[in-house]
Amino acid sequence: MLQAPVTGKGDLIPLLQKAQEAEGYVSEEAIYAIAEKLRIPASEVFGVLSFYAQFRLRPMGKHNVKICRGTACHVRGSPLIVTAVESELQLGGGEDTTPDGLFTVEKIACFGACSLAPVMVVDGRTYGNLSPDKARRLIRKTAEEEHV
Ligand code: FES
Repeated sequence: MLQAPVTGKGDLIPLLQKAQEAEGYVSEEAIYAIAEKLRIPASEVFGVLSFYAQFRLRPMGKHNVKICRGTACHVRGSPLIVTAVESELQLGGGEDTTPDGLFTVEKIACFGACSLAPVMVVDGRTYGNLSPDKARRLIRKTAEEEHV
């Protein structure tokens, strides 16, 4: 998996990026493999991981929900959309993925579709002019399709 040439600590970020590209997140296994390759303590790798928001320590859920937190969406109620979606999925305590692995919710900077604010993207499909109710229904519909 980790084929990049190793020349020292400068390789840490590129190796973490490669691991994330391969698996969608940086697994514990990858962390220890990288630490061993670079001959640094795993705690150092964890430290770097927690510093950079780009790295994930858990797999993504099957369905990806991105909620815009750009200015236009914020002004038009995206915080209420976030609250509605997180409560629908019972996400709390900073978790972004449901325990069943079905949904991951991310808050993203402007999608460039501000005229549709507030905007949410579910599995690559954009939904605009959302209300908290509409957002809840979308999540419910996606969850229901899982059981058909
Ligand atoms: S601010 Fe949300 S799409 Fe631009």
